[in-house]
Amino acid sequence: MTSDKTVKLHGRTFRMVIPAEEIAASTGRIASRIAADYAGVPVPLVIGVLDGSFMFTAELTKRLPGPLEVSFVKLASYEGTAPSGAPRELVGLKGEIEGRHVIVVEDIVDTGGSVEHLLRSLASHRPASVEIATLFFKPDSFRKDFTVKYRGMEIPDDFVVGFGMDYDGLGRNLGDVYVLDDE
Ligand code: IMP
Ligand code: MG
Repeated sequence: MTSDKTVKLHGRTFRMVIPAEEIAASTGRIASRIAADYAGVPVPLVIGVLDGSFMFTAELTKRLPGPLEVSFVKLASYEGTAPSGAPRELVGLKGEIEGRHVIVVEDIVDTGGSVEHLLRSLASHRPASVEIATLFFKPDSFRKDFTVKYRGMEIPDDFVVGFGMDYDGLGRNLGDVYVLDDE
């Protein structure tokens, strides 16, 4: 999609590529799949990964029926537009995991490093099951061997902001998704 809509963040230009309506439709499709797959599961535990997934976790869980627990952890791996090496420490995981059916919610899975780190931490708490739901997935960048079961949209390996995703702290509040466009 081409668009004239742009934003400037820290002096760099980003061009709108995925409008809010498309994100809402994609979120709805993921929610339907999760609702069907977890129909017989008592109280699944949704764990959103902060900061990026705050918006998608809200939009996704609003669309899920039945009793559901929603919790958040924090784990950051990006500074600027380049990977900053190993993911940082996981904070916020409570002792509520054992025997639970967990759905990890991410804004975007890029290399998969962050989620891999999180999966390892979760496994030590012995959940009954763990699946990943991500709004965006970069197939050309992903190099791990775990399965990302619920993928909203597959996107090229370009830096994007909006709908929770940031460029050095800015852009998370944007309802549409923008791609860096000032080379
Ligand atoms: P991964 O560990 O490489 O999979 O990166 C995961 C995290 O990096 C995501 O949860 C985001 O917070 C961040 N990230 C990855 N790609 C982008 C991007 O294009 N824009 C903004 N943040 C990103
Ligand atoms: Mg994230």
